[in-house]
Amino acid sequence: MALNSRLIVVSNRVPPASGFESQDRDEASAGGLVTAVRAAMEQSGGMWFGWSGRSTRRRVTTGSTVRIFGRIQLATIDLSDDEVSLFYLGFSNRTLWPLLHSFPMRVVIRHDTYRAYRRINLRFAQSLMPLLRSDDIIWIQDFHLFHLGYELRRLGWRGKLGFFLHVPFPPAEIFNIMPWSRETLEALLHYDLVGLHDERYLHNLVDALDVELGGELNGDSYGYQGKSARVGVFPIGIDPDKFRPREYGQQHKLSNELGLAEVPDRRLILGVDRLDYTKGIPHRLRIFERMLERHPNLGGKLIYIQISSPSRTRVPEYVQEKEQVERLVGQINGRFSEAGWVPIRYLYRSYSQSELAGFYHETDVCLVTPLRDGMNLVAKEFVAAQDVDSPGVLVLSRFTGAASTMKDAVIVNPYDVEGTAEATYQALRMPVSERRRRNRSLLSVVERYSSQSWSDSFCAALQDI
Ligand code: UDP
Ligand code: G6P
Repeated sequence: MALNSRLIVVSNRVPPASGFESQDRDEASAGGLVTAVRAAMEQSGGMWFGWSGRSTRRRVTTGSTVRIFGRIQLATIDLSDDEVSLFYLGFSNRTLWPLLHSFPMRVVIRHDTYRAYRRINLRFAQSLMPLLRSDDIIWIQDFHLFHLGYELRRLGWRGKLGFFLHVPFPPAEIFNIMPWSRETLEALLHYDLVGLHDERYLHNLVDALDVELGGELNGDSYGYQGKSARVGVFPIGIDPDKFRPREYGQQHKLSNELGLAEVPDRRLILGVDRLDYTKGIPHRLRIFERMLERHPNLGGKLIYIQISSPSRTRVPEYVQEKEQVERLVGQINGRFSEAGWVPIRYLYRSYSQSELAGFYHETDVCLVTPLRDGMNLVAKEFVAAQDVDSPGVLVLSRFTGAASTMKDAVIVNPYDVEGTAEATYQALRMPVSERRRRNRSLLSVVERYSSQSWSDSFCAALQDI
């Protein structure tokens, strides 16, 4: 879509400047936000503003560094070590992340981290303001920056201002656990448009606004004390062309990468996730173990490859999760391995998306089984990478945003280990005619809800306000 104005996207995470044009991934850039925003920015051009990913010992003041990559300007700010620890590792990843994903027992409430969060949102606003032209359209991404719109308005920004939440919005009684829930909801009403992935999250947001503020929903605008914001659903997607089998299918093979022998009848199950407790990797390992217990005929043939890309490695809950995953992998491999067969290959590293495309292509069943996930782009990438004549099967958790539209996946409840193990076994045995039918239907969903349609529909709605 041609925009009449320059697009300014703001997110905490941006691609590292050194690797903006390369496809290589590391801890600093794996994640759905960068995947989708990068695809959208490549199409529209504009400025992408965010944290450089660096931290320094000295005190940081306002100001940014701007680099040009073709039609995209990348503007970044640094943070100090303390700020990273309080704002990013602390409030963003130990308070908001578990809260928004409905893990209340993991939510850490600390006033010092909240104060730092507010200070950094203000710093983003102060550093962005000098770069703006009055007719720019500003699109702020995700939970790290709930208050940025409010701070920009306080500093005098009168132009278009949108906000998109990449994660779920939880039920009001969970959101309200956070002592600052009311001011966070009030801050949202300073945006012209607030977007979410799914009707359920929109319903939860409106309910939380009703409970905390008691305003009114008129059509698709929520109003309270003279302020109002449009709220809407804009499901995020991928650029399917980047994953099509003709592009990458033959270039990168998991079997080559892992030196897997060409065993006749060998079957591959794949999981690809940041190593995050919301992804439910321990549950998935139990599901796999249950399959091996129930179906000994799979012994020697079935290999489960789990790619776990390092994420938020300084947050204690992530350290514990890694230890738990590694313990389980060791236990299951210790229990079932035979001469020439190790059932689980666990890869704690990041791969480029062209490598992932080849890996998806070779896979029989992709297990996308988070306990909670805003959307999940891996599910969409897997579908786009399949050979239409003999596609693999997607097993998808009902607790992902993707499950609302990808109804022809094998939908499972990952808390039900027994049931998911049996559904995965059936997925491995699914006849080719049914695999083709499901893949055709899923591919049409992936093509309809792409990264381009996501950003076009959001920007069009913002421009029309
Ligand atoms: N990803 C990657 N390399 C890896 C693992 C993941 O590039 O080694 C990418 C993957 O292709 C996908 C994104 O990271 O685009 C993960 O997005 P998703 O929505 O599935 O989950 P999130 O990490 O945002 O929670
Ligand atoms: C999720 C969040 C993004 C985040 C990404 C990677 O997709 O919604 O905001 O960028 O995870 O996490 P990180 O903490 O490395 O930015």
